[in-house]
Amino acid sequence: MDLTRIPGIAGSREGTKGEEAMELFEVMTTAGAIREYLDIPDSDNVLYDILDKARCAPSGGNRQPWRVLIVKDQDLRRKVRDLYSEGWKEYMAHVKKGLVPFAPAEDGTWNGPAVDLTEAAAMTTSNQYASSLHESPILLVLLARLTDLSCLDNGLNRQSIVGGGSVYPFGHNILLAARSLGLGGVMTTVICRREPEMKTLFRIPREFAVAGLITLGKPKKLFSRLTRRPVEEFAFVDVFDGVPLTH
Ligand SMILES: Cc1cc2nc3c(=O)[nH]c(=O)nc-3n(C[C@H](O)[C@H](O)[C@H](O)COP(=O)(O)O)c2cc1C
Repeated sequence: MDLTRIPGIAGSREGTKGEEAMELFEVMTTAGAIREYLDIPDSDNVLYDILDKARCAPSGGNRQPWRVLIVKDQDLRRKVRDLYSEGWKEYMAHVKKGLVPFAPAEDGTWNGPAVDLTEAAAMTTSNQYASSLHESPILLVLLARLTDLSCLDNGLNRQSIVGGGSVYPFGHNILLAARSLGLGGVMTTVICRREPEMKTLFRIPREFAVAGLITLGKPKKLFSRLTRRPVEEFAFVDVFDGVPLTH
């Protein structure tokens, strides 16, 4: 991608700020989860380009705690698929009971799984994405270096959330960059249920956590406009029970 042709970039040969915003907004509002793929020709070069844009993501103290493993080996890919499927079953066992999988309680602490995970392991079905994961044109393992995370909410006696903010913007940047190139993908986290096995499999050092997987490819279906809750439902003036923001 030629950066000098992107409107609004210093030294750019064309465009205005208005055009830049439109282009970005189009990407943001259509970069939905894509789970079925066609192959990407020259995928290493494309991936390099995507990662070269995604690396501009913000992180606490700019410590850039992310690492990415590009999984090409077929045996490793099949093992990741199998571990993902196990995590997916644990996730679905909660969903089937109407529960938010692995969510903390109202006090922000986690009281252990809300379902019998051995029952979940006995589930025989998997979903289409899980069972074809190993065939994804690009399969990435996303890692975060724990010792680089400034978790400012540590010690609050609730689920920590701040640390993830130093790695998931990078993950989403990958998806946005891919979307801007006409590619689709999804970032997934059920693999984190099998972090110990993943660390052994990929020789991941102790101070790293598995933050998720990202799969990318040419989308089999057309992109569509994303649907989300309207602003009025989550943005309030001044106080939590304040007036919803409207326009
Ligand atoms: C932190 C995070 C974890 C996710 N984990 C999974 C996952 O394990 N498996 C999966 O299929 N999708 C996963 N997703 C994708 C979400 O299901 C998807 O973003 C959401 O349903 C919205 O889909 P849409 O953009 O197509 O509307 C995850 C997304 C995020 C941001």
